[in-house]
Parts: sequence; structure tokens; C-alpha cells
Amino acid sequence: MNVIVTGANRGIGLELVRQLIARGDRVEAACRQPGEARDLQATGARLHAVDVADGASVAAFAHALAERPIDLVINNAGVFGGMRQRMQDFDFDAATHAFEINALGALRVSQAFLPHLRRGTGKKIAYLSSVLGAVGQTNAPDHLVYRMSKAALNMIARSIAFELHDDRILSIAVHPGWVRTDMGGPNAPTTASEAARSILGQIDAATFADSGELVDTKGAHLVW
Ligand SMILES: NC(=O)c1ccc[n+]([C@@H]2O[C@H](COP(=O)([O-])OP(=O)(O)OC[C@H]3O[C@@H](n4cnc5c(N)ncnc54)[C@H](OP(=O)(O)O)[C@@H]3O)[C@@H](O)[C@H]2O)c1
Repeated sequence: MNVIVTGANRGIGLELVRQLIARGDRVEAACRQPGEARDLQATGARLHAVDVADGASVAAFAHALAERPIDLVINNAGVFGGMRQRMQDFDFDAATHAFEINALGALRVSQAFLPHLRRGTGKKIAYLSSVLGAVGQTNAPDHLVYRMSKAALNMIARSIAFELHDDRILSIAVHPGWVRTDMGGPNAPTTASEAARSILGQIDAATFADSGELVDTKGAHLVW
């Protein structure tokens, strides 16, 4: 398969690339600074300099692969959104930045690679999302920036599922659990390697019954 992974230089994205390469997929790995991405360089993926918050950068990425069919786009790039994440102590600039990356970035990349996906055979778009973006599961006031941006991402994933249904392209949001990365921190119970394995398992297993859904690492459909 030909696969796009964004935010590929560290964390879950890097592990996704490693496992995709290990099973024989061809990976077009996007990160902001490929020249400094030593671990990613070692994987054998093809590297691209891409900032998902920058439309010109994403357009150049898609143009560089203009002739290539793509089977799977994994929108993994994400940020937490800073420390001030409650209504009474809220960082609007950090929120705008997080929205640009977590929500609009994924929309931008998915839109840019739609022609490539139409030519591919896999026809799947995946989004690294979170239950923290599930409105119906919210029971605490914290992480407001992150929750807002992932709620928007969840809506993007679901809307695109309807928009691309007739193209037979799946759109699926995946909640990877709490994962030990720079974002997840050292106390998270799941390693990036374990998370990547289960994410790829869910993407591989996804059918149209899962399109437009938020799935966990066991394939259960989560409440939005
Ligand atoms: N860790 C968890 O517990 C957890 C739980 C649920 C969902 N997720 C989601 O899973 C995804 C990966 O998370 P992670 O834990 O691996 O996070 P991470 O270790 O902090 O890595 C984030 C990745 O996103 C990239 N990125 C940030 N801004 C970018 C931009 N503007 N353009 C391109 N790439 C950008 C980073 O690149 P730089 O090195 O250039 O900053 C990095 O490669 C995120 O979408 C996150 O929200 C994580």
C-alpha cells in the first residue's frame, strides 16, 4: 500500500511509519523538519517537509506526489494546545493554533490528497482523534483547547464519511487510548508501539460500517 503519515518524526506517527515499513508498505512521511528527523530517516520512508497548518506546504506535498495513487492517509499530526485550557484561564492564540493543526490541518491534507485517494485501491482516510473530543463523554472542565479541536476533528471525520461515500472512500476517527509520548507524558499506560499496532489493526479492519465513526483500539464505536 501507498500510505501518507503526517507528524511522522516522533511519537505515534513515528511508530506508525516503522510498522508500515516493516510490513512492506511504501510510506510518504510528512514532518516539519525532515533534516532533523534522525529516527524517521532511519525507517526508509520517503520524507517530505510539511506543516499541516500551512496550506501552501500541504499543496506542495500533494503536488510532489501528483502522479502517485495513495491508498491510505493517516492524519496523525497534532498538538495539545498549551497549559491554559479552562474558560477562566484560556489562551486564545494557543486554541487558534491547535484548531489550525488538529482540525483544519487534517481537513487540508485529506482534501489535498483526494485525487490520489481516488486513484488508489485502499481508499481510507484515518484521523488520530480522542475521546476527549467526544462531547457526550465530557465530564470535566479541563483540556478545553484540546477537546474543542478534537471535537471539530471528529465532525470533520464524520462529515467527510458522508461526502465521500459515493467515492467508496472510508473516513474513520481512531482513539488510541492514553499513549506514552511527548504529548501523553511518562505515566501513560500504552507504548507508542502498542498504540500504532492497534491503530493499524483498526484501520485495516475498517469497513463502511465504521466510516464516520470514532473507534477505539478494539474496534468499538465510541459515543461522540
Ligand atoms: N498521546 C496520547 O495519549 C494521545 C491520545 C489520543 C490522541 N492522540 C493523538 O495522536 C496524535 C499523535 O500524538 P502523539 O502522542 O504522538 O504526539 P507527539 O508525540 O506530541 O507528536 C506530535 C506530532 O505532531 C507533529 N506536529 C505538530 N504540529 C505540526 C504541524 N503544524 N505540522 C506537521 N506536524 C505537526 C509533531 O511534529 P514536531 O516534532 O515538528 O512538533 C509530532 O511529530 C495526535 O493527533 C494526538 O492528538 C494522542
